Amino acid sequence: LLQPAAGLLTVPGHSSALPGVTLALSLVLPTYNEQSNVAELVAQLTRLLDEMLPGDYELILVDDDSPDGTWAVALGLVAAYPQLRVMRRQTERGLSSAVIRGWQVARGQILAVIDADLQHPPALLRPLWQAMEQGADLAVASRHIDGGGVSDWNLIRRCLSRGAQILGLVLLPGVVGRVSDPMSGYFMVRRDAIAQRSLQPKGYKILLELLGRGQIETIAEVGYVFQERSAGKSKVTWQQYLDYLHHLWTLRWARFAAGPPGRKLLALPMARFLKFALVGLSGVVVDMAVLYLLHGALGLALTRSKILAAEVAILNNFLWNDAWTFADISVRQLGRAARLKRLLKFNAICLAGLVLNVLVLNLLY
Ligand code: GDD
Ligand code: MN
Repeated sequence: LLQPAAGLLTVPGHSSALPGVTLALSLVLPTYNEQSNVAELVAQLTRLLDEMLPGDYELILVDDDSPDGTWAVALGLVAAYPQLRVMRRQTERGLSSAVIRGWQVARGQILAVIDADLQHPPALLRPLWQAMEQGADLAVASRHIDGGGVSDWNLIRRCLSRGAQILGLVLLPGVVGRVSDPMSGYFMVRRDAIAQRSLQPKGYKILLELLGRGQIETIAEVGYVFQERSAGKSKVTWQQYLDYLHHLWTLRWARFAAGPPGRKLLALPMARFLKFALVGLSGVVVDMAVLYLLHGALGLALTRSKILAAEVAILNNFLWNDAWTFADISVRQLGRAARLKRLLKFNAICLAGLVLNVLVLNLLY
């Protein structure tokens, strides 16, 4: 049974007092009440990794003293799977810190993490590993690129997930905007890229922390479909959303404090906000101009004119935002189909505004 280190959440580097970096890969499996999943997970991972990296990897299960005794179940597997190591934490809790506590005792050059509930397909380890071998500092399994997706999420969960991402893009474009799925909990990272840095993740989103504080240059992404849970339940609660907000804020502040006093670090989100506001303003002008042209000059009925005018304005705003406000992000999701999809979504969302617009106009005019 591994003991977690106390104190700062810092991963040691190779060269330091850690002669033990002798393996290619250390994969951490964070668990909380996953006793029904661990046996199957360990079996699947072992089958795959024995083929990929025979004798050159370890699995580190980090359990937060789960009431269902996950750690004890895992300990029972060690005889059959000698590459499995088990940590039981009793004084600290939380997904992100569990992952780092696991990496602190890891012996691998490459550090990795995968959910222990089989929602992350193990088969993806292969392409992730290939990306690392080709020199990536970070290889992320992503739900939001080709080949990626979520299996059966309801609208609310999708909206929350995307909303969180958009908020992150506005507050921390240089961090959140670097990967298509910054919320991913399935990735590999080069030890050197994060060693010797004091990490202070909150809640679930450890990848944010690495992007925010690590020395990560080359990033690879591999698409995957987030599977449904077959056993156990998700531990996500509202608390995780609050943690996320707090985390964004902390990272924002750390970057601000590290930079030259003042503007440089505020500049990006401010610039984006101003662009967004300017585009919005241009939409008002377009809307009014078209309305005036159709209704005032050409004599078309008021409501009809207004609908057409608003639609032209919506197109105007979409094109400017896509090409200018979010240019740095939207280029990554290029292609006619992706763009059209964005346009349709944007348009659908704006419909509510359009309806209000027409109502108010008819009331006041
Ligand atoms: N040690 C420990 N401590 N493990 C935890 C804790 C904790 O406090 N909370 C959750 N875990 C473990 C779970 O047992 C599971 O293996 C994994 O972390 C993910 O937790 P879930 O509760 O199943 O999260 P999810 O399915 O909603 O979301 C996960 O997948 C997303 C998509 O990739 C998370 O990993 C997200 O970070 C990830 O973005
Ligand atoms: Mn899960």
